[in-house]
Amino acid sequence: MTSTDTTADSQANPSSYPLIQSELAGLLKGERDWLVNLANTSALLQLRLPGLSWVGFYLWRGGELVLGPFQGKPACVRIQRGRGVCGTAAARRTSLVVPDVHQFPGHIACDPAAASELVVPLEFDGRQFGVLDLDAPVKEWFDASDREGLEAVVRILLQGTNWPENIGEPVPPA
Ligand code: SME
Repeated sequence: MTSTDTTADSQANPSSYPLIQSELAGLLKGERDWLVNLANTSALLQLRLPGLSWVGFYLWRGGELVLGPFQGKPACVRIQRGRGVCGTAAARRTSLVVPDVHQFPGHIACDPAAASELVVPLEFDGRQFGVLDLDAPVKEWFDASDREGLEAVVRILLQGTNWPENIGEPVPPA
């Protein structure tokens, strides 16, 4: 979704995020189960965002990031803290936009076709539950508008979801 991309059907439209956010709020209405809500969020993002090769969640379980609901090819199952883009974003407690995954030290290549990546930590009310991870087969696919749009998506998801005790870890106050 770069602003320099000129092909009409490969460009993510930043204006799609308000629609995604309102559709997600509708999907979550009356439902607070974590598995249901993460499954539907990954399906909605796959449906509405063009050009993704993978979108889904890794969740803190037993001190590791463990594969959660996703859309795409089968993926790596467990990621250690501080490893790969996912473990680094989680450890730093910040979203990461990676324009070229091959330039990111320690990138974990679940899918050799992945070229760029965006990871948003899932943090709410003093807990980090895991990360939202998106991959694209094109370099520089994600930009700041995607990061902002997806951070808002994550806020809606987290405000509308209850978690079991065995998912997530406490984080120190920011
Ligand atoms: N590339 C990720 C691993 C997860 S897959 O992209 C689905 C990483 O480096 O953490």
